[in-house]
Amino acid sequence: MPTYRRVVITQHGSPEVLQLVEEAELPYPGPDQVLLRVLAVGAAYTDVLIREGMYPGIPKPPFSPGYEVVGIIEQLGEQVTGLALGQRVVALTVTGGYSEYLCVAAQELVPVPDGVDANEAACLALQYVTAYQLIHRVAHLRAGQRVLIHGAGGGVGTALLEIGQILGLDRYGTASTAKQALVQQLGARPIDYQQEDFVQRVRELTGKGVDAVFDGIGGGHLWQSYRALAKGGQLVCYGFSAALRSGQRQWVFLATFALMALLKLWPDGKQVWFYSITGLKQQHPDWFKQDLGMLLDWLAAGRIRPVIAQRLPLQEAMTAHRLLDQGAVPGQLVLVCTGEGAKPCPSKPSK
Ligand SMILES: NC(=O)c1ccc[n+]([C@@H]2O[C@H](COP(=O)([O-])OP(=O)(O)OC[C@H]3O[C@@H](n4cnc5c(N)ncnc54)[C@H](OP(=O)(O)O)[C@@H]3O)[C@@H](O)[C@H]2O)c1
Repeated sequence: MPTYRRVVITQHGSPEVLQLVEEAELPYPGPDQVLLRVLAVGAAYTDVLIREGMYPGIPKPPFSPGYEVVGIIEQLGEQVTGLALGQRVVALTVTGGYSEYLCVAAQELVPVPDGVDANEAACLALQYVTAYQLIHRVAHLRAGQRVLIHGAGGGVGTALLEIGQILGLDRYGTASTAKQALVQQLGARPIDYQQEDFVQRVRELTGKGVDAVFDGIGGGHLWQSYRALAKGGQLVCYGFSAALRSGQRQWVFLATFALMALLKLWPDGKQVWFYSITGLKQQHPDWFKQDLGMLLDWLAAGRIRPVIAQRLPLQEAMTAHRLLDQGAVPGQLVLVCTGEGAKPCPSKPSK
């Protein structure tokens, strides 16, 4: 009799490697863990890189992807304090989230305020924390500064547009034709990078260039981004979206780091940074919790409203990944878990 379901990456490759499996026994939380019944999990391009085996530090298949989850605490480990059964929480799991149940270290959890929609909360831990930290922890931007956001109609891009608006940034966003209207709705000036040269367009619109560029595309694209900067501007690289679309996967990673190293040495007063959410979280776990907690408060207060393109049931993870592979998602995707078919909490396994 199956107890719960999860989606597993059976081997690295195309979306077809994602398989729904039924597990016979619920996991039992360790002394410092809790058992979560997952309500919603974000499905993002980073999961695609993980599925393809292009992300550092992930387990060998088979394993479940799932970077950010919202769930209800169903069982507490023996040493866990300060959390309660039935409480809703969010966590950055990196992997494991595409599952109806999973165990998470208690110290990783941030409470979800009452009244907040679980699907919207599931968009915050990866995409919104990334966007917030790019603006406030890396580039330290101020109101009125001009910023160019690539992939502005995507997950991190839409979050950058919203958080940038709260700060009062002058925002320019590159996007394909289909996402131009969304970028405009979010208050930025859209640039159709498929129809025009974005560097030239930025120069026409701003005169001197922008104060910061957020580039999640990577590879040779960084050079174009660098050229769009004004004197003293900052280029912040944080992703490799070009890796799949260009078909030259490893080359994009190599080109990104080689170009960054070169541009850092260029003596023209511009600055170049690389951001990694897990890297910064490791250095400053307090920042991560503080930033996520504040974003949850903003969500509760209606200051931010994640753009969710679709809410799909967990078993449609393969469909979600096909859409992500095509770059066809305006905003974000959420996988919704119902927990149907799950049994009550397990008792402690005998040794
Ligand atoms: N460093 C970190 O900690 C961190 C955290 C989160 C995400 N990331 C990375 O950041 C990147 C963006 O993540 P995301 O979740 O926002 O992805 P996303 O939702 O897929 O959005 C990225 C957008 O970029 C555009 N795009 C894709 N390939 C492009 C190309 N070659 N040239 C120009 N535009 C392209 C696509 O929109 P169009 O239709 O407009 O082309 C796509 O919607 C990913 O590489 C992800 O892995 C890194």
